[in-house]
Amino acid sequence: MRDEKVCASCGETPKWKQDFPIEWEGDHYVSRREMVKFMTLGSLLLAGANWITVIAGKLMHRGSTAQRDIGAVSALRQTGILLFRYPTDADPCIAVRTPEGKLVAFSQVCTHLSCAVVYDRAENALVCPCHRGVFNIDQGNPVSGPPTRPLPRVRIEQRGDRLFAIELEA
Ligand code: FES
Repeated sequence: MRDEKVCASCGETPKWKQDFPIEWEGDHYVSRREMVKFMTLGSLLLAGANWITVIAGKLMHRGSTAQRDIGAVSALRQTGILLFRYPTDADPCIAVRTPEGKLVAFSQVCTHLSCAVVYDRAENALVCPCHRGVFNIDQGNPVSGPPTRPLPRVRIEQRGDRLFAIELEA
């Protein structure tokens, strides 16, 4: 095999190769230590990115204390259910007057895979039609089906004949 460090015509090592003595076989070799360093650094970067995502998500939901007029009490009296959006127009929620006369409100987004939950009067529970997840009406806690996290609760306040959503509790 021909020595690639030596010039074919003059038999000497070219000047540039003396200044940059790169061994190509060695250049492609990755030691176990370098691999572990790379994996550790990559894992730390991924963990950091996940934490930033979690903290940003919490901060975005923490600030949802803006009040919003969600409708008339009379509308709730007719059906016992009021659909509204809070804190933004992209966040569907549901308010329910329970058989005991208690007014409760929750995000309508199922904590399993985000289908819209509906009120089931026979079960007196919020039910997700996608995978039959069931949440209790008092706290929004999952009682059966695949969801494991409770529905975020919306605090409601009545002022005269109007209902106001005043806070989304994460
Ligand atoms: S999306 Fe609600 S139970 Fe699956």
